[in-house]
Amino acid sequence: MRLLVKNIGTIVGIETAGCMRLCGEEMDRLETCDDAWLLCDGGRIAAFGFMETLGDMAVDKVVDAEGGMLFPSFCDSHTHLVYAGSREQEFLDKIHGLSYEEIARRGGGILNSADLLHATSEEELYRQAMERVREIAAKGTGAVEIKSGYGLTTADELKMLRVVRRIRETAPLAVRATFLGAHAVPRDYIGRQEEYVELVCSEMLPAVAAEGLADFVDVFCDEGFFTVAQTARILKAGRKLGLRAKIHANELAVSGGVQVGVEYDALSVDHLERMGGEEIAALHGAVTSPTMLPGAAFFLGMSYPPAREMINAGLGVALASDYNPGSSPSGDMRMVVSLACIRMKMTPAEALNAATLNGAYAMGLSRDYGSITAGKVANFFITAPMPSVAFMPYAYTTPLIRRVFLAGEEFVA
Ligand code: NIG
Ligand code: FE
Repeated sequence: MRLLVKNIGTIVGIETAGCMRLCGEEMDRLETCDDAWLLCDGGRIAAFGFMETLGDMAVDKVVDAEGGMLFPSFCDSHTHLVYAGSREQEFLDKIHGLSYEEIARRGGGILNSADLLHATSEEELYRQAMERVREIAAKGTGAVEIKSGYGLTTADELKMLRVVRRIRETAPLAVRATFLGAHAVPRDYIGRQEEYVELVCSEMLPAVAAEGLADFVDVFCDEGFFTVAQTARILKAGRKLGLRAKIHANELAVSGGVQVGVEYDALSVDHLERMGGEEIAALHGAVTSPTMLPGAAFFLGMSYPPAREMINAGLGVALASDYNPGSSPSGDMRMVVSLACIRMKMTPAEALNAATLNGAYAMGLSRDYGSITAGKVANFFITAPMPSVAFMPYAYTTPLIRRVFLAGEEFVA
């Protein structure tokens, strides 16, 4: 199937093949091409160029972009979008003054979602999750990482990851799966945390690996959750089974999560609301992507990660939604990009690169996703005509996305 998109006002996010992520000053580079066409063949980007160069071409379908801009789809490298029900009761608790940690200590939070998930069938979980997947696809996301971590028993963690596998098989987006058994200590193990870590390492991880259900292993390495030593143990066990690390680090405290992630070659360390100079230095020259989740800082009223310091220090940062029922009940990557600009003083170019190419890098997908590059998968969206690229994060609630294409086919929600 050959698809031609013509009359594109501006193609945004053109990158050379082989560029896996952008770091430091390069993050402000966002190549564009005005008054353009783009050709897809077999679900991949085949070529693009200026309208005046468009000759006769044999194609199966022509789409008129009507002067709108064409962006590479967002690559959301951190979500928990498989969950049961919702937690707006905690939203009310927070309005009345409780903190995220206080809610967790009272047995709410993640344990609340684990109870709901336990009582929900795999089929129903899939149905609820697919609604969210369709929602984010319509909002411009073309690749997504999804974590387990609301199971907290071997059977329920496997149930979650089977739902992720089914999403991967049926949804038109690229999907990566992460095992997050160490998301919280389940009620039965309170006071026996080491035994739970043992269960994660010796029972859950081998079961997950035996079914090939995960690409990555994650740990919530933070105050009140899992320690650096426990995290290291889980990452080692995961590595033996071929699972690369991605870590929840430095959300609630300067937890040591960044350093342990770098030490174990984690693909990303995520959250980073609490960062010091040592954490930034540890990330320098590392393969590990610092990934920020401003939707969680916004929803929980926390301070934002120091994006400017990180970029100025030469790091290549990524942005993700953290879509989950407790700290970020939204998978809207346009909102994430706007928050990055407004609250973290990232330029629109930096924020868009962080939400596309660098997001793809943070889940091992940047060879095939994250930019407009000949040979990459044809995942992109077309907007209404806009005066400039900056208009998109600026007009942060205007429904600017008109048409979405995934693997070269139009996605209709
Ligand atoms: O990334 N921080 C840990 N985990 C999730 C929140 C999970 C929840 O509250 O349900 C996060 O914010
Ligand atoms: Fe998270």
